[in-house]
Amino acid sequence: MHAAVLHALGKPPRFGEFPDPTPGEGEVLINVSAAALKPVDKQMAAGTHYASPREFPVVCGMDGVGRLEDGTRVFFGGARRPYGAMAERTVLRRVQCFSIPEELDDVTAAAIPNPGVSAWLSLKHSAKLAAGETVLILGATGVTGKLAVQIAKILGAGRVVAAGRNEQVLSILHALGADSTIRLDKPDEELIAAFRREAGESVST
Ligand SMILES: NC(=O)c1ccc[n+]([C@@H]2O[C@H](COP(=O)([O-])OP(=O)(O)OC[C@H]3O[C@@H](n4cnc5c(N)ncnc54)[C@H](OP(=O)(O)O)[C@@H]3O)[C@@H](O)[C@H]2O)c1
Repeated sequence: MHAAVLHALGKPPRFGEFPDPTPGEGEVLINVSAAALKPVDKQMAAGTHYASPREFPVVCGMDGVGRLEDGTRVFFGGARRPYGAMAERTVLRRVQCFSIPEELDDVTAAAIPNPGVSAWLSLKHSAKLAAGETVLILGATGVTGKLAVQIAKILGAGRVVAAGRNEQVLSILHALGADSTIRLDKPDEELIAAFRREAGESVST
């Protein structure tokens, strides 16, 4: 099969041939249609992640979308090494596969879960966001941040404050549910005043 194959840490992966995977007990074969490319995938390949591979060659990619042999379309995460998501086929345990709503296309379904679950876990389980509360999203202009803005609203946040440096992206966050935005590239005094204002303090300008 064809795959994005990493031959050494810190070197770009190469498109090439890789042996087909054979499922073991409790495992399923996936015919991959879309693979996610995230910061963690780059860290894995660069060798800067604690879980970076130590044996080569290895296929890149951790998660994606594909079809089981019975045709079921699934999101999957955590292929068994040396297999990975960036290949025509991969292999992993059935419990690492999740069904996908029909209306979601393959690419979107591959891209959302990893950053989306991170954002959701942070808000729901770490912050224990309760309906009506105010939420501050730092790094709101990034992939995870933009999802966090939307998820905060879905979880019932009363007010979502989004902070970031990229003015162009900040300007679209209102459409995603942000009630207000704070530009981080301001002088310290202005930034402190902006945060205090959003926290409900009266601040003289
Ligand atoms: N993507 C995933 O699947 C995923 C999954 C789990 C966890 N995470 C974690 O979530 C975090 C964000 O990942 P991402 O994929 O969303 O990355 P991303 O799209 O590159 O977004 C990074 C965000 O961080 C901001 N930022 C970076 N350096 C900054 C600095 N020095 N000062 C202020 N803001 C800064 C960026 O702001 P600008 O727009 O101004 O540059 C941007 O909002 C990372 O810690 C990542 O490990 C991501």
